[in-house]
Amino acid sequence: MRIAVTGRNGQVVLALQERASSADVEIVTLARPELDFARPWTIESALSALRPDAVVNAAAYTAVDLAETEPDLARQINAAGAGAVAAAAASLGIPVVQLSTDYVFDGTLDRPYCENDATGPVSVYGRTKLEGEQSVASASDNHVILRTAWIYSPFGRNFVRTMLMLADNRDEVPVVDDQFGAPTNALDIADGVIAVVRNLVDRPDATELRGAFHMTGGGEASWAEFAEAIFAASAGISGPFARVVPIPAVSYPTPAKRPANSRLDNSRLALIHSVRLPHWRHSAPGCVERLIAQDFQRKDSA
Ligand SMILES: NC(=O)c1ccc[n+]([C@@H]2O[C@H](COP(=O)([O-])OP(=O)(O)OC[C@H]3O[C@@H](n4cnc5c(N)ncnc54)[C@H](OP(=O)(O)O)[C@@H]3O)[C@@H](O)[C@H]2O)c1
Repeated sequence: MRIAVTGRNGQVVLALQERASSADVEIVTLARPELDFARPWTIESALSALRPDAVVNAAAYTAVDLAETEPDLARQINAAGAGAVAAAAASLGIPVVQLSTDYVFDGTLDRPYCENDATGPVSVYGRTKLEGEQSVASASDNHVILRTAWIYSPFGRNFVRTMLMLADNRDEVPVVDDQFGAPTNALDIADGVIAVVRNLVDRPDATELRGAFHMTGGGEASWAEFAEAIFAASAGISGPFARVVPIPAVSYPTPAKRPANSRLDNSRLALIHSVRLPHWRHSAPGCVERLIAQDFQRKDSA
């Protein structure tokens, strides 16, 4: 099975490439300059040349705070770009998987969000991602929208790498303790995406497999709890360690508002696609270990 993936150096793109060989899948990437969301009419010919069985749109404008001052660019990539990828997939007769986000919700609910709960993004990024979902759904019936959250990985910039870098330079790190979500390893997302794509390709007429699904790591945490687990795993292998100082989100103002509750209910994905990602506490230590091996000198060898 050949899957075309948009983007080249993104966390999910690199994770898909790493996981593909063990899943007997070929990943072909479609990225700048060939894939240009500024020239959406080029997408269909670029995609068609790859002759994929399915396409995963993992490319996005993900700079959540910068999006507040670049709404047009964020919209072009996250909304128009996503719609153009889905339209190209539809004209080639192949399924499209669109990655989306917990930021489509306002985070005020007191339980994990289900797929049909009311959306209400509180940031430009969240609004443009929601518009992307709507563009994909109107461009192709043969789609799956996978909303995920709190992605970390051994690749690119993410919370785990940031925490380890901070701990390398200081003894204490203030971390927000009143926002809750499920840390999600991009490598687990890759396994989940491949399983979903396989279902779509194997059962082209199964309408129940299509639509929106939530897909995050198992369990839940505050950012502060996640940071504590990162430092505990790091200390266990003589990596950087710092004490976590819990702070409220109001003490860490950012240009874009974040939902206080980012927890997503994953049961529909488990029921319909038989996909359930591992608990974040199971997945995070392996990522910590890889990042330390890549980026940091262990204290015992310093
Ligand atoms: N990160 C999170 O915590 C998080 C949480 C929830 C949902 N999501 C969603 O999950 C998906 C994957 O996120 P990620 O963390 O893997 O993203 P990422 O690491 O920030 O990577 C973004 C990708 O988008 C591509 N891209 C950006 N601008 C582009 C443009 N103008 N034209 C073509 N490609 C462009 C980049 O291309 P290059 O490879 O060329 O740089 C890169 O491959 C996204 O849909 C995101 O919205 C992310």
